[in-house]
Amino acid sequence: MNYRLAYRIGFHPWEDAATDPPFVEKISAVFDREEQGRQPPFGRALDLGTGSGIWAIELAKRGWQVTGIDFVAKALLRAQERVRQAGVQVQFVRGDVTALRAAGVSSGYRLVLDTGTFHDFDTERQTAMGREVDAIAAPDATVLLLVWPKRRRPLIRGASRSEIEAAFAGWKVTDVEASHFRLPKLMELVLKPDEHWYRLRRK
Ligand SMILES: C[S@@+](CC[C@H](N)C(=O)[O-])C[C@H]1O[C@@H](n2cnc3c(N)ncnc32)[C@H](O)[C@@H]1O
Repeated sequence: MNYRLAYRIGFHPWEDAATDPPFVEKISAVFDREEQGRQPPFGRALDLGTGSGIWAIELAKRGWQVTGIDFVAKALLRAQERVRQAGVQVQFVRGDVTALRAAGVSSGYRLVLDTGTFHDFDTERQTAMGREVDAIAAPDATVLLLVWPKRRRPLIRGASRSEIEAAFAGWKVTDVEASHFRLPKLMELVLKPDEHWYRLRRK
């Protein structure tokens, strides 16, 4: 997926998920689980490939101290505007999720969220992202990945469970759950997203 071009021409169908009740209900339940038994502030959260900041802002509203990183300037401009309208605080970094430390991302993140970067990476970038997340995540961190399965379809490569486990070698998959993400009918038929949440904790 060429994200720079996508944002330039205003093609960002993943943002529609934020107004699709089944998806929103599931992502809320996924966040609830990480907050269970705690009171806000919940700690530091990192939103990888934050895009226009939709989920970074949601986490900030819930009481997380959020950093969002993306490599597309236009996406981050839209994110800044959303943050201003929401009246919350989110720190944005322009950089590559496969080189978090080089981008100036610090450590101690209790929650690392990825709603759509890892599953489009080749093996080299998957490995780099896993290594970087391992370096910046807190000892008790949770990693949440939204992943389309690996299959022969256009636009998004997809990733298999074994690829996730290989990239996050020091982590174990604790849960795999349907995200209830839907695309418009024709795109759904062509792309077959069948998207799942993967939850990982350190071994
Ligand atoms: C499918 S979009 C999801 C955006 C956002 N997380 C959401 O759910 O609305 C994937 C995002 O990851 C960003 N991205 C892809 N590869 C990246 C990389 N190597 N480093 C930083 N951002 C990246 C894209 O620019 C895009 O904003």
